[in-house]
Amino acid sequence: MNVLVTGGLGFIGSHTCVELLNEGHEVIVVDNLYNSKIEVKNYIENITKKQVKVYIQDVCDKEGMKQIFKENKIDSVIHFAGYKAVGESVAKPLMYYENNLISTFSLCEAMLEAECYNLVFSSSATVYGTPERTPIDENCRLGPTTNPYGTTKLFIEQILTDLQFANSKLNIALLRYFNPVGAHESGLLGEDPKGIPNNLMPYIVKVASKELEKLHVFGNDYDTHDGTGVRDYIHVVDLAKGHLCALNKLNTEKIGIDCYNVGTGVGYSVLDMVRAFEKENNLEVPFVIDPRRPGDVATCYSNPDKSCKELGFKAMKTIEDMVRDSWKFVENS
Ligand code: UFG
Repeated sequence: MNVLVTGGLGFIGSHTCVELLNEGHEVIVVDNLYNSKIEVKNYIENITKKQVKVYIQDVCDKEGMKQIFKENKIDSVIHFAGYKAVGESVAKPLMYYENNLISTFSLCEAMLEAECYNLVFSSSATVYGTPERTPIDENCRLGPTTNPYGTTKLFIEQILTDLQFANSKLNIALLRYFNPVGAHESGLLGEDPKGIPNNLMPYIVKVASKELEKLHVFGNDYDTHDGTGVRDYIHVVDLAKGHLCALNKLNTEKIGIDCYNVGTGVGYSVLDMVRAFEKENNLEVPFVIDPRRPGDVATCYSNPDKSCKELGFKAMKTIEDMVRDSWKFVENS
């Protein structure tokens, strides 16, 4: 199958390209390198020993997207491209709404023109806002979201729902990711955020490598087993495989549009992650306890039953795999 991957040189996109190529699919990437590097193409090819076709182009460029569909017979699309920094989205909401929505419009128009109907969309557990209950299942209330980034994901889910209603041939899986961490076991692909990281794991590795002095743990007075926030961390290679399960579903069944949590169903606290990282890598991660971060919830983890039953997806990697591979990528860079 020929799969177009938007944002295919980014963190989750690149790992998904590897899994697609390993399964024998042809991969066409469109990426504007906003948050990625062209070298990632070589790393994907080194790992898989296969070629990937890359267009350095903005997905917002509608004519450019239509051209890609003219030049390639595309069977399915996985749409990762988008801005994703929560803090930046609060400071620059227009930039987030413009980029994340317009790129989706442009992609969908090109898909419809080319009569390509299978789409996997990279959504996020952030659409649940402050969760109604934990573990979070797909029937939990959506929103209100807590930042513009999250709102773009919620809006796109709604837009795709309306579009599918109007074009019943569309077959769309919305994947709601929990907290992706880890890296490819080769140490070649991983997460390399610009500037000071917002997310826990990129921050931990920068403290371990002494680029940053200490980790700031945001609150130790939550109602959790050690007082620090609990999240559903999922290894990026497991998450990438979840996209293949979703594609497989779309290619064997007409689902219309449906949503699936992609998590492990297990919650770990900030201190669980720090301790696992220290133990597995034999390194120290100095930390201080700071006040709670505004907008954070105590506990957020998935009920993964629907993706297990309907997509046949199950996360296999352990917390040790996550912290070891996250470090290996940094050591290797
Ligand atoms: N944390 C710290 N110190 C840090 C960074 C994070 O203590 O320097 C804590 C947070 O308070 C939280 C946990 O680590 O308890 C995880 O925080 P992250 O920022 O890594 O992740 P979030 O759960 O806040 O958000 C992530 C993604 C969002 C996505 C959301 C989905 O960043 O894009 O999961 O639920 F929307």
